[in-house]
Amino acid sequence: MLNLALPKGRLGDKVTSLLRDAGYDCPVIGSGDRRLTVDDEKNGVRYIWVKPSDVAIYVERGAADAGVVGKDVILEQSPDVYELCDLGIGRCRMAVAAPADFYDDVSRKLRVATKYPHIAREYYAGLGREIDIIKLSGSIETAPVIGMSDVIVDIVETGQTLKENNLHVIDTVVSISARLVANRASCKFQKDDIMRIANAVRAEDDHK
Ligand code: PRP
Repeated sequence: MLNLALPKGRLGDKVTSLLRDAGYDCPVIGSGDRRLTVDDEKNGVRYIWVKPSDVAIYVERGAADAGVVGKDVILEQSPDVYELCDLGIGRCRMAVAAPADFYDDVSRKLRVATKYPHIAREYYAGLGREIDIIKLSGSIETAPVIGMSDVIVDIVETGQTLKENNLHVIDTVVSISARLVANRASCKFQKDDIMRIANAVRAEDDHK
């Protein structure tokens, strides 16, 4: 069995569709279904559903041979894995956003709320701007609304969450999409199985 770690949640739904279209019997993990591992005997694949931010850890440690992970997680964690291809799903962007009346007072540190401290630090280091990171786990948009931060660095997909909280994009940090990654040892010993999945799910415009 090839162990494939998949992200639960919004991205997971898209991965499921992609795998099913590619001929993999990947079950839809929906409401009421609490299974976290499912075997696909026909294709010799075991699907392991984990938190999106944990996928790369499973793959790096060899608990999974391969996995689907957002480029945001790869940039934030720099896991020691092979990035095999772009899946062309989960397309969004990492952006800086703030309230409409924001102005950057350069006489003091900029307070940045984010789930992505590494990405935010790199971005502001590139601008030579001193910042104070406020690391949160979710609902990042609340921070500037209640005055805890000046800006946020977060994922923007449809832009709906920003809009509903009266926030605006100031700058795009980087474009994001889902990637297939693989464990380094598995790439040697289960190369054929891994490449079969990669070739089945690779985005048409992926040139890796
Ligand atoms: C992500 C992100 C934004 C939202 C953006 O949050 O952190 O809050 O999605 O999507 P949109 O542009 O389509 O509105 P997620 O849903 O993962 O939940 P979280 O707040 O718990 O991080």
